[in-house]
Amino acid sequence: MSIFRTKNLDTMVAASRAPGGLKKVLGPFDLVLMGIGAIVGTGIFVLTGTGAVTAGPALTVSFVIAALACAFAALCYAEFASTVPVAGSIYTYSYATLGEVVAWMIGWDLLLEYGLATSAVSVGWSGYFQSLLMGFGIELPKVLSAAPGALPGVETWFNLPALVIMLVLTTMLSWGVRESARLNNIMVLIKVGVVLLFIVVGARHVQPANWQPFMPYGMNGVMSAAALVFFAFIGFDAVTSAAEEVKRPERDLPIGIIGSLAACAVLYVVVSAIMTGIVPFQKYLGVDHPVSLALQYAGENWVAGFVDMGAILGMTTVILVMAYGQTRVLFAMSRDGLLPKKLSTLHPKYGTPFFATWVVGIVFGLIAAVVPLGVLAELINIGTLAAFSLVSVAVIVLRIKRPELHRAFRCPWVPVIPLLAIAFCIVLMAFLSMTTWIAFGIWLAIGLVIYFGYARRRSLLHGTE
Ligand code: ALA
Repeated sequence: MSIFRTKNLDTMVAASRAPGGLKKVLGPFDLVLMGIGAIVGTGIFVLTGTGAVTAGPALTVSFVIAALACAFAALCYAEFASTVPVAGSIYTYSYATLGEVVAWMIGWDLLLEYGLATSAVSVGWSGYFQSLLMGFGIELPKVLSAAPGALPGVETWFNLPALVIMLVLTTMLSWGVRESARLNNIMVLIKVGVVLLFIVVGARHVQPANWQPFMPYGMNGVMSAAALVFFAFIGFDAVTSAAEEVKRPERDLPIGIIGSLAACAVLYVVVSAIMTGIVPFQKYLGVDHPVSLALQYAGENWVAGFVDMGAILGMTTVILVMAYGQTRVLFAMSRDGLLPKKLSTLHPKYGTPFFATWVVGIVFGLIAAVVPLGVLAELINIGTLAAFSLVSVAVIVLRIKRPELHRAFRCPWVPVIPLLAIAFCIVLMAFLSMTTWIAFGIWLAIGLVIYFGYARRRSLLHGTE
């Protein structure tokens, strides 16, 4: 069955080490910061409002459940990333284990995850940016402030700031990883500093009475909120897509993945406990800046202003890392012949996949300009949960097919941990809406058509098996 042909793992690893490929410049500190850069963003700064209304103060439990799903998947990711340090994240791993058609579908799914996430976070960025501008008395024309239909009762055409931020970051990425990573590190430190500031200042204003009732909508509310705030953890996997540019991938990738996830899980649980402790959860209905709202409610307006600034920087780094991950997946798929070759050509001077970077920036910048945030978020979650389940399956398959392979990091208790990851992901997916499931089905169907109509015949493996 040629659609299940697999790439040779050993050749892939050797190719990634051959001279002339992507530059190896990233260390463990860069990776943890890159992970946090991709993780802390719209999820904590915007979606916690809806989360609090859905789950009540038990939003903390929702975060723990979403974090567990990610943690189990992260252990699987870490094993793969340390075994096959090749660009392209789980797309590449599944090509070596589950076969070409599965790899293609995962790559197609990742385009949904990374691509639409850059759009979604650009939209969140644009909202905070406009509120900051308003603080200085500057207001954009309404028609250029949001996507059509985003603001009920207001005529809007185009989200200009969302497109502009995408194009600015695309320019940076196309100039090179080292520069982007350095800037990313500074912005991440500021973002984490702002979250810590919220914790320190906010903790003094907590009224424990606000935590009662703790679980007003029962487990159903908690699980629905978990399926939504799962978005807040998306991004740690983007670290793996940088594998070919890491100096010592065997050691540094697991540190990057697990370290960034653990740090964010702790921050989120504490932030959501404080948020629901300061403001009664019902008051978060329809609020798109819940974290700074809590501080304003407590009379800490200055600190709230800092948090807004931090949120803007925070979301900037999320877009940066997601767009970066996206270009590397395109790079890998194109190098394998599944997408046009132009997407994997490197710029002679910058050494970056210049063309792919600009394709991503323009396409997803335009999507950010014309599609509202609410439509994007659930779709991203379902795509990501599906990808996490598949990488967990792939870990079990690779243990059976290639038990002798050197694994610098081994996921503990295989197959228990991968099976737990799959179970958690499926349960969370079950709490997403039917419309999301249908849209996801359509996306996968389009992917299959392209695979059978184009990619399968263009694959480098075509005719070799
Ligand atoms: N986790 C990222 C965010 O919350 C996608 O913005």
